[in-house]
Amino acid sequence: MESSSTEPPKAIEYLHKQVYENSSSKCEAMVIREYKKIGSGAFGTVVEAVLQPATNENDNVGDTSEDVNTDQLNIDEEKWLGPFAIKRVPAQTDYKSRELEILRIVNHPNIISLKYFFERIRVKDNKMYQNLVMECLPSNLQKEIKYYRISKYTIPYPHMKAYTFQLTRAMLYLHGFGIAHRDIKPTNILVDPSKVCLKICDFGSAKKLEPNQASVSYICSRYYRAPELTVGSSVYTTMIDIWGLGCVIAEMFLGKPIFQGQTPELQLREISKLLGPPPNSFFFKANPNYRGNMYTTKLFTGTVEERFRQIFSNSPPDAIDLLMQILVYDPEQRASPRRVLCHPFFNELKQKDFKVYPRGSQEPITLDLLKFTPFEWELLGPYQDLV
Ligand SMILES: Nc1ncnc2c1ncn2[C@@H]1O[C@H](COP(=O)(O)OP(=O)(O)O)[C@@H](O)[C@H]1O
Ligand SMILES: [Mg+2]
Repeated sequence: MESSSTEPPKAIEYLHKQVYENSSSKCEAMVIREYKKIGSGAFGTVVEAVLQPATNENDNVGDTSEDVNTDQLNIDEEKWLGPFAIKRVPAQTDYKSRELEILRIVNHPNIISLKYFFERIRVKDNKMYQNLVMECLPSNLQKEIKYYRISKYTIPYPHMKAYTFQLTRAMLYLHGFGIAHRDIKPTNILVDPSKVCLKICDFGSAKKLEPNQASVSYICSRYYRAPELTVGSSVYTTMIDIWGLGCVIAEMFLGKPIFQGQTPELQLREISKLLGPPPNSFFFKANPNYRGNMYTTKLFTGTVEERFRQIFSNSPPDAIDLLMQILVYDPEQRASPRRVLCHPFFNELKQKDFKVYPRGSQEPITLDLLKFTPFEWELLGPYQDLV
């Protein structure tokens, strides 16, 4: 609910006659009030907004444009639904419409849910835009990591565990459909710190991967790009998201991205500073045609395990063990989501009386992290008893 007293003055309002409700596919006229910009990316913008079904009196008004005076609209301040986040991207390109398709089929507590969608021509440039109306979360993992880094802390361990568990659960579900997110990174992971709740967003790069079908390798933001992608593999699997998961966990512990390659090729060098030189079998499996630098020189002394302990010197041993199972060159050896969910790193969460204190709160809350759906139990398979 949005009360008129808290609204910034420059909200825009418009009536749109064909707003589709996602779960029922019902189409209805709605009034939309956008009042805050919350994100902008390469393709579009995200705004915070409230919606309400248009009354019959609005019927003869017709679709209004953003810069039209909407005094003629009949608005009931008590009837606003939301707040929502509306992501606006140019319509028509095949590449981006996948986002709507995928958001329409997924339904999981740790994946952002789509409430409504509509297409609309913007007055500004007279182009058609797709509008995705989603539930709105107050923050993302990048902001959260930064918040703690500024005061020289890390996200508290129980929160890290709860966030990692939820992120992995979302991956178990997505990968169960064969869908790879392909852009896992802290800005695409929304959180509500008051509930220690996490949801993946930004399905703009997501794709259902078919076995042995080629896909582009130039996806994922560089720092979070799996090694097989950095060498140009085109028949990769959903395990590329697991690499991203490892990078995100590492970033929560370190307060900054773990592999900051200055160019796509140098990204592999950064990775080799932790994992050692990639084995020849890695190049052979990922891309036999790779002709770039193979970084065969070991850039540190001691074993890889010692190197992990050195880089994550302030992190608990179970977290280091988990990272060593995830940050692995060979995607087939990388821990699967269900294996991750069973890792002792999460034991604390699984205790009956587990409670967390949300950021800034004196009152602990309980989290319902283990309420798996029948589909998830099925995906857990032989790991059911271990989770
Ligand atoms: N449902 C949402 N609730 C709150 N903030 C959101 C939501 N969706 C996106 N955002 C914010 O907007 C930013 C950009 O959205 P995103 O979907 O990642 O678009 P892009 O494709 O431009 O990266 C995100 O990083 C996040 O901070
Ligand atoms: Mg994004």
